[in-house]
Amino acid sequence: MTATAQPIYDWDGFDFDTRQVHAGEYPDKNHGLRVPPIALSAGYLFEDFDDQVSRFDGSIHWRAEDDGPRGEGEAFSPSEHAPIYSRQGNPSNWVAEERLASLEGGTVSVAVSSGQAAISSALFALAQQGDHIVSTASVYGGTRILFGRSFKRFGIEFDYVWDAEDDAEWERAIRPNTKAIYTETVPNPCNDITDLRRIAAVAARYNLPLVVDNTVGTPALIRPFEHGANIVVHSATKFLTGHGAAVGGAIVDGGNFDWEAAERAGRSFPLITRSSRPGVASMLDRFGAGAYARAARESVVNDIGPTLSPLHGFLMHQGMETLSLRMERHVASSIRIAAWLEQQPEVLSVDYAGLPSSSFHALAARDYGLDADGYGRTGSVFGVTVRGGIDGARAFVNGLRLFSRMTGIGDTRSMVLHPHTSTHSTFAPEINERLGITPGLLRLSVGIESAEDLIRDLRGALDRVAAAV
Ligand SMILES: Cc1ncc(COP(=O)(O)O)c(C=O)c1O
Repeated sequence: MTATAQPIYDWDGFDFDTRQVHAGEYPDKNHGLRVPPIALSAGYLFEDFDDQVSRFDGSIHWRAEDDGPRGEGEAFSPSEHAPIYSRQGNPSNWVAEERLASLEGGTVSVAVSSGQAAISSALFALAQQGDHIVSTASVYGGTRILFGRSFKRFGIEFDYVWDAEDDAEWERAIRPNTKAIYTETVPNPCNDITDLRRIAAVAARYNLPLVVDNTVGTPALIRPFEHGANIVVHSATKFLTGHGAAVGGAIVDGGNFDWEAAERAGRSFPLITRSSRPGVASMLDRFGAGAYARAARESVVNDIGPTLSPLHGFLMHQGMETLSLRMERHVASSIRIAAWLEQQPEVLSVDYAGLPSSSFHALAARDYGLDADGYGRTGSVFGVTVRGGIDGARAFVNGLRLFSRMTGIGDTRSMVLHPHTSTHSTFAPEINERLGITPGLLRLSVGIESAEDLIRDLRGALDRVAAAV
């Protein structure tokens, strides 16, 4: 087992801001194009009969960097590619994959067609019919629906932990057939950020991989592998592409889970540890610290087919070039707006984990860091509850001019959504009550417009609330 103890920020030891611009790029030998081109081709030429044979039997691997086969005795890198068909991989997507793996500190990433595809492919590589997964309760509404509907139909069950700080609750939920623990860095809309180190310790005790959705946190603010996560998933639709133009997703392998130890402890992960074909070694033996990602790519994504379009792969790697710059503005404006909203008479509460008034502030300080004024830098998606329940919410939403009324987060544009009648509308009332999804709650995603303009817009909407309730 070649698991790495520490995250690997691959790409020549450069800082995050450099890697987000350069990691994964490769020289274009034909025209010297500086920006990696959009590689719109469904397939790849095989040089001759034997080349086709060796690509299919996995005995040859090609690297994006030099477009050449690995030489005799040359060290194997898990990010090497053996292109057969674009359903399994594409040069535009490899740039995005290598860039994201570098930013998260993982070994290998697999780009897919949406965040939902990333979550389902990541978990299908770990669990099968008859297995079980434990998740925190406040995960994104669409994720809960996916777990409760499609996963259920495929015979994979979920249990939810409501108090992620309560180790005993985790331990009661974990069963002999549990195959993963699932959580998010910054759940929306209620911003109940998770103590990843605590959950990782529980997962490690039970030989379970910890899968973390870092869509809202982003690697610019938090890198889950540094806190003990083993697999990271993203909806790239949000901050990674960043401009609200593309739907995409990705899985990142931390390369830090001991699959053999889990197997010895009775938790089997056959796609990773067992040979799938006579004469071919297991993914673990062949790909070491990139084995999980390889299994997800070859045995799940390739089978089911949630391929990312090369055009969207391009938008993803280009979007990541400015990730930390955008996140600076997203976070600074969110802190200003959350602190301002808290002072407004029409507002009952603001769920921003970085606010000193939040019960999550100490955790925010530890894991996300504080700004110069002592506010935690916990992203730009959070909840605000206005007076007047659903009538107040309606007046607020209708009173906004600059915030877009739409579903979505992590765009350059600011957005507002009413979770009770949208993302959480299919949940039982008692579930929504426990999750804190009340009729007066609105989800805000703060964009990179002028914070003054956004505050003026919010003030206008709160005037409408004051007049209505
Ligand atoms: C935290 C989180 N994960 C996953 C998803 C699903 O992503 P997509 O819409 O790209 O499928 C979303 C979508 O809002 C999300 O907010």
